[in-house]
Amino acid sequence: MQKGGVGEKMLKFLFRVVRFLRKCIFSVLSVGPVPAHIAFIMDGNRRYARQHNLKEGAGHDAGFLALMSIVIYACELGIKYVTVYAFSIDNFRRRPEEVECIMNLMLEKIELMCRKDSIVNRHGVRIHFSGNLELLREPMRDAAKKLMAVTANNSNALLTLCVAYTSTNEIIQAIQKSCEEKWVENQEPRRVGRGPINLLEIEKQMDMAIAPDPDIVVRTSGENRLSNFLLWQSARSYLFSTLALWPDISFWHLVWIVLNFQRNQSRVEKKNKQV
Ligand code: FPP
Repeated sequence: MQKGGVGEKMLKFLFRVVRFLRKCIFSVLSVGPVPAHIAFIMDGNRRYARQHNLKEGAGHDAGFLALMSIVIYACELGIKYVTVYAFSIDNFRRRPEEVECIMNLMLEKIELMCRKDSIVNRHGVRIHFSGNLELLREPMRDAAKKLMAVTANNSNALLTLCVAYTSTNEIIQAIQKSCEEKWVENQEPRRVGRGPINLLEIEKQMDMAIAPDPDIVVRTSGENRLSNFLLWQSARSYLFSTLALWPDISFWHLVWIVLNFQRNQSRVEKKNKQV
């Protein structure tokens, strides 16, 4: 397409119209409670690649694009926190070539997000990594740290990428850190009120302490399990499962998810009033 030509102008105009329509739909949706935090288990990337006869990794590539779209819509709707299960500790047990392929793709995307003109930077999204980064190869770990530093001053929304993550690992690490802190505290000679570690002390040590507990946990591709994701934080979350494969997740899915959340909220409120 010719730069600055009629085709490009038309495309830009259409883009503005679509954004305006999205804004209208979101302002109607904002009449009800808007979730502060929505978490996704991004399932179905390999199946997407198979369905479309694509090569290995292409489903995850499409999955990253879907993630960026969801981040944009979340910003437009005023959702402050988005968390995604990008790679679990159990995923390291997959075929080495597959792990390598996903890791290379993630590294490429992390480097892309570091750029000043990236979607996350243009929308003021801060990135946080949750998980045992020690399990990652050095270039990936360094890139993750760089992305957190580069986006540290962005304040519109927070995107948490759970990589090398499982909830049980997060809980064990938090308990260990709480015990270590308690042990150091108890060494102080004039310390009063030595007690066992409490819930708040453990929660403070969680990787996910950076965000409030999720209002909604969504799993794509028709699965209904949490698979060791945010087990501690999802005790009161609304769980939603959709048949859509993650790369197919769209604006309309997000609208439908939020509508269902709002319906559920009013049901919960009514129930609480009856008690
Ligand atoms: C599960 O789908 C998803 C993953 C193992 C990884 C998802 C990662 C991305 C979409 C890229 C994210 C990029 C960054 C930088 C965070 P699956 O592979 O298990 O597919 P299946 O359910 O069809 O088997």
